[in-house]
Amino acid sequence: MSYSAPSWRCLLYSNGVVKLAGRFQGCLDENRPKVQNVKPGREPQRAFEDYFQTVYGERWPTLRAALLRPPRKVTLQNPFGPPHQDYALDEASLLPVKHLAAQPGQSVADFCASPGGKTLASIFALHGQALWFCSDLSPLRLGRLRAVFFDCLPEHILHQVQIRKGDASRWGQTYPREFDRVLVDAPCSGERHLMASPQELERWSLKGSRRLSVRQHALLCSGLDSLRPGGRLVYSTCSISPLENDGVVDKLFKSRAGQFQVIPVHDQLGEATRHGWVALPDTCACGPIYFSVLAKPE
Ligand SMILES: C[S@@+](CC[C@H](N)C(=O)[O-])C[C@H]1O[C@@H](n2cnc3c(N)ncnc32)[C@H](O)[C@@H]1O
Repeated sequence: MSYSAPSWRCLLYSNGVVKLAGRFQGCLDENRPKVQNVKPGREPQRAFEDYFQTVYGERWPTLRAALLRPPRKVTLQNPFGPPHQDYALDEASLLPVKHLAAQPGQSVADFCASPGGKTLASIFALHGQALWFCSDLSPLRLGRLRAVFFDCLPEHILHQVQIRKGDASRWGQTYPREFDRVLVDAPCSGERHLMASPQELERWSLKGSRRLSVRQHALLCSGLDSLRPGGRLVYSTCSISPLENDGVVDKLFKSRAGQFQVIPVHDQLGEATRHGWVALPDTCACGPIYFSVLAKPE
């Protein structure tokens, strides 16, 4: 094992694998009417329906019904054994972790980490043989992450996980070119959750989604700045809104042209988008999860 600055970086080895199952589903239709042309109804619920009907066209009623059903979950077997607990999560949540492709000995940052499912999947897959940096803005949600990690990880592995509260849109300045892998699992509209609650759905607006996309872009820029040359970043959301998904990568192309490349994705579960991949519940019975994989040139 060899150490170098900063002190929590080290070289290790791995034998962990995350197994995924599913089917390839084809591409999203790029020819649908442009979102900007939508004239929302007066009521938020109506505006929500109008917007996604415009985005998904004939697919929307089926997708809508699927979003109201619980997603298929997988249970990750704990490689550290009892008394450490297994962890169940939406199967599609494993996709961003799988395509982050963290290697043994690397430094792996999860900028928006709570409640910790994706970092945990990464730690399990590498049998703890890397170093993780987890941050979140919300102290309450970080408390949940800590509880999950204490239930699932032995003490010697907990030492390899740094947990930090703060605004991750600043980490690019605080930790420039620091990490081999960065996951930006951004806060998003989370339409599945909105649809489960009429009160939440009342708060939805296209303007709100656009505002979120500005925050998401700031987080993504910060992630790119904190990535080492040659490193890989995964931007992900659980949104079905193109504004918060490919639209945010579009913004990055405008603000950071030449500083990154999009790595094409293929997986058995989900379908291609312009800049990445999405698993939607009408075809996958899990998700929604969108992600785009970016590389920083050497
Ligand atoms: C989609 S959830 C993350 C889920 C998590 N990656 C997992 O797999 O369990 C988004 C998280 O981002 C956090 N968040 C929102 N704004 C943030 C910011 N500016 N900096 C860091 N975290 C933020 C939220 O508190 C929330 O916990």
